[in-house]
Amino acid sequence: MSKILFLNGPNLNLLGKRNPEVYGSKTMDDINLLVEEKANSLDVEVLFYQSNAEGDLIDFIQNQRGSIDGIIINPGALTHYGYSLKDALLDAAIPVIEIHLSNIHGREEWRRSIISDSVTGQIAGFGWRSYTCALEVMVGLVGDNR
Ligand code: DQA
Repeated sequence: MSKILFLNGPNLNLLGKRNPEVYGSKTMDDINLLVEEKANSLDVEVLFYQSNAEGDLIDFIQNQRGSIDGIIINPGALTHYGYSLKDALLDAAIPVIEIHLSNIHGREEWRRSIISDSVTGQIAGFGWRSYTCALEVMVGLVGDNR
């Protein structure tokens, strides 16, 4: 069975309480549950990890090397300056989908992504649905690579 890693970066542990008019009212646990349900229906295994520290996210990616088939990541603000995270995603050499709850393209200029040119693709602006949508796409991508 394919295994997909969901990574969430800084401050996403506060979802539900944090700026709900931008990020929605669901908590990280609520979203993970919706992703689990989607994963069951798609017959795929999912793994979740969140950290506020860039190095911890990188360690996790490196430690999962060889045991995961794809990465779906909401890097939080690391999207805008996380060059060592970007390198770690490139080094993973598996499909990567960058996701955002908000449409970063319609927000402040500094919210442009420095990661998007080195990932397989990006899904942004659909709230929690960005997560489940990405899983559906990833299952297709991983299937194509088999
Ligand atoms: C975010 C957008 C980022 O700019 C912000 O720093 C986040 C969340 C999103 O999901 O919309 O933490 O990645």
